Amino acid sequence: MNAAEQKTRDHEPQDQRSAEDRLALFSFQVFSKLEGAVTAGMIHLGDLLGLYRALADAPHPMSSAELALAVGCQERWVREWAANQAAARIITMETNAGDGDAEEIRFGLTAEGRAVLASPDHPAFGMGMFHRLPQTMRALEHMPESFRNGVGLDYDSHGPEGAVGIERSFEPWNNANLIPTVLPAIEGLADALRAGITVADIGCGAGGAAILMAKEFPLSEVHGYDISRYALDRAEQKKADAEVANVHFHDPRRQAVPSDHSVDLVTTFDCIHDMTDPAGMMAAIHAALKPDGVWLLVDIKAHDTVAENITRNPVASLMYGISVLSCMSSALSEPGGAGLGTLGLSASRAEEMAKAAGFRSFRPLDVQHSVNAFYEIRP
Ligand SMILES: C[S@@+](CC[C@H](N)C(=O)[O-])C[C@H]1O[C@@H](n2cnc3c(N)ncnc32)[C@H](O)[C@@H]1O
Repeated sequence: MNAAEQKTRDHEPQDQRSAEDRLALFSFQVFSKLEGAVTAGMIHLGDLLGLYRALADAPHPMSSAELALAVGCQERWVREWAANQAAARIITMETNAGDGDAEEIRFGLTAEGRAVLASPDHPAFGMGMFHRLPQTMRALEHMPESFRNGVGLDYDSHGPEGAVGIERSFEPWNNANLIPTVLPAIEGLADALRAGITVADIGCGAGGAAILMAKEFPLSEVHGYDISRYALDRAEQKKADAEVANVHFHDPRRQAVPSDHSVDLVTTFDCIHDMTDPAGMMAAIHAALKPDGVWLLVDIKAHDTVAENITRNPVASLMYGISVLSCMSSALSEPGGAGLGTLGLSASRAEEMAKAAGFRSFRPLDVQHSVNAFYEIRP
């Protein structure tokens, strides 16, 4: 052993466990990921079948028979599902089994469980990503080909339910925070929207944010742009349901984002890192904006390096996995795509790219979000 190796070894924590224990622990660590994946599938079913909703609505914890009756399913299946969920500490379990008593188990939700699992109006509602779990995992079938030829799959490869999953992922937080917190973080913006301006929400998905802005600011005209036909179909349906006339949805490949410096506000919510040509999009946003316009960039919080992301982001493994199956795949869905991926747009990279696209001012906004960062960018 040379001096450098000795020094490294001196600083390594001494693992006193036997080789057998280390092997068992490592196997446990690996299988805990499979436990997470399978339980995530069960969470998808709990959402889809209304099991969480039924538990939330019940005045008291439910037996599996009561729960099965409430959702119109077979008790034996519901009992096994509930056992998985209770074992994973996602739903609560009460048992009265004493000596000689027949075991009776009742299942319920904590207040936090009701918020995250059963309350679409709560900002912490989390079922969107689980909604699209089957579509996201189905991408695995295509992955060997993508790994070999380099080309990924766009959002429409996840089908219409993929678009609904995205919608359900982002809308709860946006509904609670976009109008009262995010837009006022840019000085004068809410007043300008009230007076009436032109807005382009690029990568608008199912149109939730665009419709929110159009409803709140009836004198403004809001245009949503997306390349996903499933998302645009949802957006048109939601526009009709909301009965708002000042919002319009476009596929930018047919109706391009204006390039005549006529737009006052561009918003991009969680989509630049998904794009095959984010640098080209930033140049297009610059060409769309008036000289005194503003771009609200919302994208996933990321550090500058992979090592920092891995060591400092506690959900980095989830993020990098979703990147392979969804975000980076979308960003590589055309040959030569940039492939930024879920954690690929750190603040400094966003600033560098924005400046290269011609923007002169870049300011992080003080908006608290568990996953996203917010920036005010001006020409
Ligand atoms: C993660 S989703 C976010 C959707 C929406 N902004 C939201 O918050 O719900 C990313 C969206 O970007 C769209 N997208 C990807 N590349 C695009 C492009 N070049 N132009 C417009 N939209 C694009 C995808 O189709 C997808 O709907």
